[in-house]
Amino acid sequence: MNPGIRRILSLVVASAAILAGHQAFAADSSPRERLLLDSGWRFHLGNDWGSGYALAKAGTAYGPGSPSYSDASWRKVDLPHDWAIELPFDQTADGSHGFKPVGEGFPQNSTGWYRRAFDLPASDAGRRLWLEFDGVYRDCTVIVNGWFVGHHESGYSGFRYDITDVANCGGRNVVSVRVDATHSEGWFYEGAGIYRHVWLVKTAPLSLAPGGIFVISRFKDNVPRGSDDVLVQARVVNAQNAPADATVIWTINGPDGGLVTTVTQPARLGAMGTLDVEQQAVIKSPMLWAPESPNLYTLVTSVTVGGKVTDRVETDFGIRTVGFDAEKGFMLNGAPYALKGTSNHQDHAGVGSALPDGLQYFRISRLKEMGCNAYRTAHNPPTAELLEACDRLGMLVMDENRQLGSDKHHFELLEELVRRDRNHPCVGIWSLGNEEFDVQGTPAGKRVATAMQELVKRLDPTRPVTCNAAVGNEYPGINETIEVRGWSYHVGQAMDDYHKAHPLQPNVGSEQGSTVSTRGIYANDPVRGYVSAYDDNAPEWAQTAETWVSYFGPRPWLSGGFVWTGFDYRGEPTPYGWPCISSHFGIMDTCGFPKDNFYYYQSVWSDRPMVHILPHWNWAGREGKEIDVRTYSNGDEVELLLNGRSLGRQPTKKYSENKWKVPYAPGTLSARDYKDGKVAAETEVETADAAAAVKLSPNRTEIDADGEDVAVFTVSVVDAHGRVVPTAANKISFTLDGPGQIIGVGNGDPSCHEPDTLVAEAPTRSLPVDGWRWKKVADPYPENMAEEAVAFDDSHWDKIDVRADTGPLGLRERAIFRAHFDVSAADLMAPAVELVFGKIAGGISVYINGHKIGGSIDDRSAMVYNVKELLHSGENVIAVPTANYGPEGSGLSKGVTLRLQEIAPPPQWGRSVFNGLAEVIVKTSREAGTIALTARAEGLQPAGFSLKSQEADARPSVP
Ligand code: GAL
Repeated sequence: MNPGIRRILSLVVASAAILAGHQAFAADSSPRERLLLDSGWRFHLGNDWGSGYALAKAGTAYGPGSPSYSDASWRKVDLPHDWAIELPFDQTADGSHGFKPVGEGFPQNSTGWYRRAFDLPASDAGRRLWLEFDGVYRDCTVIVNGWFVGHHESGYSGFRYDITDVANCGGRNVVSVRVDATHSEGWFYEGAGIYRHVWLVKTAPLSLAPGGIFVISRFKDNVPRGSDDVLVQARVVNAQNAPADATVIWTINGPDGGLVTTVTQPARLGAMGTLDVEQQAVIKSPMLWAPESPNLYTLVTSVTVGGKVTDRVETDFGIRTVGFDAEKGFMLNGAPYALKGTSNHQDHAGVGSALPDGLQYFRISRLKEMGCNAYRTAHNPPTAELLEACDRLGMLVMDENRQLGSDKHHFELLEELVRRDRNHPCVGIWSLGNEEFDVQGTPAGKRVATAMQELVKRLDPTRPVTCNAAVGNEYPGINETIEVRGWSYHVGQAMDDYHKAHPLQPNVGSEQGSTVSTRGIYANDPVRGYVSAYDDNAPEWAQTAETWVSYFGPRPWLSGGFVWTGFDYRGEPTPYGWPCISSHFGIMDTCGFPKDNFYYYQSVWSDRPMVHILPHWNWAGREGKEIDVRTYSNGDEVELLLNGRSLGRQPTKKYSENKWKVPYAPGTLSARDYKDGKVAAETEVETADAAAAVKLSPNRTEIDADGEDVAVFTVSVVDAHGRVVPTAANKISFTLDGPGQIIGVGNGDPSCHEPDTLVAEAPTRSLPVDGWRWKKVADPYPENMAEEAVAFDDSHWDKIDVRADTGPLGLRERAIFRAHFDVSAADLMAPAVELVFGKIAGGISVYINGHKIGGSIDDRSAMVYNVKELLHSGENVIAVPTANYGPEGSGLSKGVTLRLQEIAPPPQWGRSVFNGLAEVIVKTSREAGTIALTARAEGLQPAGFSLKSQEADARPSVP
């Protein structure tokens, strides 16, 4: 785990488990290295090159797929990265994806290229080398050193490629990744690009297989008792052409880091063989995992050969049981446990789908504040860091597969999901998919779901399986076969009827709710695209919070449910279209600012005494007019007071709100929650005066200087007394000094078209490279000739204009082209200096001042070379020997230029507050120090906040 996140945890959960601990073998005695490959990528939006790899000959990828291609003028990006969030909103684009001009109809924005160069030490020869991608949206091609190594379509599942054979140990390596987001997978915002982590993994030839470790709690009857029989499994791979006698050693450390037990098992592996081994371990008096007590154990799996460690992997796990009972509902650790869940998509304000790990912890913490104990990863496999946050903070997860299918491709994706996630204690339920309308009731749907469920059970016999079904009392098809009937909406008699007809099948409210609302808005406004925040509005297929909660509350057999949704997300701008660009379903907005329903759920999901009043109390111009006031509380009675005068008490209704009509008078509206006759909780809303100042409040005051950690700032506009002005819309500008950067801003306004993130585009200018001469030669492979040297006298050669559309070479002709050109010292100061060939057709080599800088046999793309280090001020010489194997008209054409790129101006960050609030996400660099954020708005007192970025070990990463 990232040390930054470790620190967040200790702040968020006082009882966070200490993960380091006793180890059977020191970590550094294992040859395994897992290096983060997130920093230092170059990115180019657009595709002038086609697929980038040649189908004719191996290792000959062209354009950006070629290792010698220059990406020096491409934008520098660190992962995770989502280019869709960077694009402007466009009313002609697909609204369900958030009106971003990406996808069908926007080819110029739908393909992006990433490149990363890195060195490998010579000592890596003999190790297995892997590139692991946690998630790329989507349809991605990976090329390493000019070799095609793989193609992966799914935008949500992780994948890995063994690059051992094509890697250059002791030298430079180039990874090129082409990402094509033209086609979408979902009907919601999905982002575009390498939006999750990338890793370079190095192992010994005899190693633990990815996804091969599994630790299973085996309490008798699935009920925790005095000790747990733990089954530990490991898959070992021998990538050597000789058999090997290995030993697998499993060591379990407790939540306090202390050694619990060690077991071993011999593993005799054949040449190039794979072997599954397992052993039993006993954990006495286990500390169980639950959302309220997220106790984590660590399994250390080591493989040794002849006493020498060849691999070692740490796996955090929890001891707990999950299951369903047809009458009692969901069971955790042998007892009924109502699921107080939310379904969520993965995007957040400011960053789109590219969430730094710290934001996962931020979001899960927010949900927990509401009393939420379960999270559904709608409608796709989540990023691993979300599950880590749920393991550590305590949140059950319904882990959802993207699409139904029992073919090879879909089985591979499902297997990847289950193998990756099955050790996470937070994962309590697998979901095969969501609302597969067309096949739900069909025999084929039943057969496919049966096959998928059986695969899941083979890989993980410990967890129940469901599938979210948008049907009522209908059994044929998927519902006939699925272990747990999933319910999407349909609150009402159909559920009781279904339960009566199928009394042995457990049920879960896999998608429930959902109120549509806008934070801080109290009247529907279709023109501006706002929906009142009272719990009054739901789409025709859905229900308000109170409706579904009151139905589920008295029916434990339904197990509780997952509200659609915890957070607003981009896309699906229900109930309105443009200008809305995001949904209104969230209990929180896209920034994680609570809407009023947050407190409704708190009142029904949390035992902590609370009371909440809505709306705000700034209704200038409506003095004396009745305001619709409501309170959410969880005591016996609630009392409302205006400016200290009681407006009476009302008994608190279970699962419901209390309603009041209050003639407006500015001042303080307060509420008291009574339990057993005593005040258990109080709250108030005050009329704020005019906006006077900006305020900055971070979620954390100290973060880690590891280049990954984030602080999330709430920006509020307040009056002279520090009260948030609930109607403020001021435009705020932000500046940051110190070792960090702003990575995104948001305000939760579903109709705001201001940018969430800014891209600093560097200006470029081009100098023509003219004055070419050429000479035909007979040599079939014109290389290493005197004509390539600087000193060669070409003054008698024919002049040629290489700007024509086609080149001068006929079929099977060869020639050498030469040019002399001047460059100034000032030009060479540009950060990127590239030589750009409009087109070179045929087999070529390029020499700059006598140095060969590259070659190509492919004429599909313009070649670009990084020549900054090869040019000098004054006269420079280029020589290009070519051989035409193709059609007439080959050789140099379409001009040659020198492209100079200047430094990008720093981005000017800003954002309007929406109903008083906005959000700024700040990321650290690897340098410790003070990060000073300043927020200014016209006419308001500015705010400054100094965040301490403290020294921390960054995760091991590729330099
Ligand atoms: C559900 C669907 C969700 C979302 C929601 C909007 O039917 O599963 O993905 O579209 O409707 O109400």
